[in-house]
Amino acid sequence: MTEYIMAKQNGRNIPLEDKIFGISRLANEMIAQRGKDAVINATLGSLIGDDGKLVVLSSVVEVLKNLTPIDYADYAPIGGIPEFKEAIKKAAFGNYEPKCFTEAIATPGGTGGIRNTIANYSNYGDSVLTSDWYWAPYNTIASEIGRKLTTYTLFDHSGNFNISSFREKVEELMEAQDSLVILLNTPAHNPTGYSLTLDDWELVLEVLKKAAVPGKSISLFIDVAYMDFAGDGEEYRMFIPLLDGLQENILPVIGYSASKTFTLYGMRCGAMICMTPNAEIAEEFKRVNEYSSRGSWSNCTRASQVVIAKIYASEKLLDKVNKERKSFRDMLVRRGKAFEKAAYEVGLEIVPFDAGFFASVLCENPDEVGKKLQEEGIFLVPLAKGLRISVASIKEDDCKMLPSKIIGAIK
Ligand SMILES: Cc1ncc(COP(=O)(O)O)c(C=O)c1O
Repeated sequence: MTEYIMAKQNGRNIPLEDKIFGISRLANEMIAQRGKDAVINATLGSLIGDDGKLVVLSSVVEVLKNLTPIDYADYAPIGGIPEFKEAIKKAAFGNYEPKCFTEAIATPGGTGGIRNTIANYSNYGDSVLTSDWYWAPYNTIASEIGRKLTTYTLFDHSGNFNISSFREKVEELMEAQDSLVILLNTPAHNPTGYSLTLDDWELVLEVLKKAAVPGKSISLFIDVAYMDFAGDGEEYRMFIPLLDGLQENILPVIGYSASKTFTLYGMRCGAMICMTPNAEIAEEFKRVNEYSSRGSWSNCTRASQVVIAKIYASEKLLDKVNKERKSFRDMLVRRGKAFEKAAYEVGLEIVPFDAGFFASVLCENPDEVGKKLQEEGIFLVPLAKGLRISVASIKEDDCKMLPSKIIGAIK
């Protein structure tokens, strides 16, 4: 008997409830019964302040409040308003000015860029490559549009980026397909917090340059959703010049999200930005992705685009937003470091961590360990190979305390 009544499965595996929201619901139910102090909800992917409330940049809200009715009521062009496209390129590239051709297309959050990249740069039925630790919606997005997600092993036995596994998978897929989309979430990867080093980047690009033989192509989607909360903005953008001037059949696409950077999660704003030495490929990027946008969500929210355009039009405003964000970023970095240090002290094995909203712990039977922790009022997300901890949504003191609780539950 099929699980569906009227709906068609179409190759998808659709759960009854989203795992993360399901666990978060349990956490909220326990809060209702036992009070907030009895529960640590480290499931969510949004930054929560020490006061337990969502962090919202007041400098961004101020701009939002000053918009005109036209700014939020009118349609935006499918690809985004021109001032936004310029602003979002500056936001993504920082001080670096690419020498290649770049085109930006507005997307609803970073998610839209992932969808459009897979839709336009792979064939139906193709495999799309990412690491074995990955953000679950990558799979949802790929299966929604008739593609399969396949993975390489992110870390080797010494905890370094596993370039051999990456190379092996790229070569295997390039043998079987005439094009390949790779989703690379760095810096501050979800769910591990890992950031590729510049040495990792050199190795990755070496593999791609070799694999992209004439007649075949590779699209490298760099998901930088957490880049602006990783640490120093310029330092974490040092990989970008390496993407400038690659051979034409390798297309880097930067997936930029305004959700975290500008705390505009619910306004659904982001962009996909291509970098290519070929003007025609840039022009084609604009054409095919605008077409896909039209056929899926049409245009994106105008208000958030105007807000970002206005911020980048005023040095004073930009400075204010950057300073405000920095204070919250420092708070997040302190939490991550506190968790890492406490894990080290109690001997809890965590997956290599650098920065960002999440850290992960390797363990057997993650679902069971997760349930055990729930009995103590601790809510984490079980993944295939371990547990994800959102340091973004808990206090620094809880970050210090969690590793000993986790190790207790594992034992
Ligand atoms: C790895 C990763 N990529 C992209 C996104 C994009 O999110 P949004 O579409 O809300 O900007 C997220 C958000 O949680 C994420 O974790």
